[in-house]
Amino acid sequence: MTLTDSPSSLQGKVLVFDSGVGGLTVAREIKALAPELSVDYAADTGFFPYGEKSDAALRDRLPKIAKALVDKARPDVFVIACNTASTLALDEVRAVLDIPVVGTVPAVKPAVSISKTHVIGLLATPGTVRRAYTAKLIEDFAKDVHVIMHGSVELVRLAERQAAGENVPLEAFRAAQAPLFEAERGDEIDTVVLACTHFPLVRGELAATVPQAVNFVDSGEAIARQTLRVLRTEERLAKGGGAVWLSSDASDQTRLLEVCRRFGFIDMKLVQL
Ligand code: DGL
Repeated sequence: MTLTDSPSSLQGKVLVFDSGVGGLTVAREIKALAPELSVDYAADTGFFPYGEKSDAALRDRLPKIAKALVDKARPDVFVIACNTASTLALDEVRAVLDIPVVGTVPAVKPAVSISKTHVIGLLATPGTVRRAYTAKLIEDFAKDVHVIMHGSVELVRLAERQAAGENVPLEAFRAAQAPLFEAERGDEIDTVVLACTHFPLVRGELAATVPQAVNFVDSGEAIARQTLRVLRTEERLAKGGGAVWLSSDASDQTRLLEVCRRFGFIDMKLVQL
């Protein structure tokens, strides 16, 4: 049986975690593959954005917030739907949790398999771009490929604003991704890895302002499949779902909450460190 044959047999609760609304792109893939699953969402709004935080600050923060969330939400699987966090502190988070943890890795491998020019772009946060994890991924799967990376906190912010319904000028998206294509051999890029979970939220805007024909790839569906695989290993009981957990005062987060509501996360809850 393949994973898509009978998703209705799946039970359990998944907690999808990110710094802001980006992880909703992963939650959407999980719900699409297994609509009957209980899914909660968590945004570390008190520490957003992760992309400009120091490695030390994130290494300290991530195990603590993960533990606090899991203690409250009691999921069967914890999904770190954030490249910036996963590429830095997946092991640290795993060490403090007694449930399976699924991480997010930039989709370098699939990008390499579809690129015809063998020049790919990787759009991420500055944190993900400088990670040893990302360098190793490229060494392992893109040895014969030229990889051009660009880290942009600005694009994370633009994605949050656009998702919240603001009419962000297209020019802003053009400018945010332009450094990829202005780099040496940038005009040969035919595939761009969206290595931040926020970026699939603005895939249309990026596609509309790209200077040449490119395919955009992300790891959302692969993470969803891995999550279901992990859930399948044991018998689980369905329990609730549909909550959105925040780590800061909800009164400052009305726009984020509206985006979460659109993705089906309605019941607001607070987690404190
Ligand atoms: N969504 C996160 C990622 O996938 C990062 C956003 C942020 O900088 O907080 O990398």
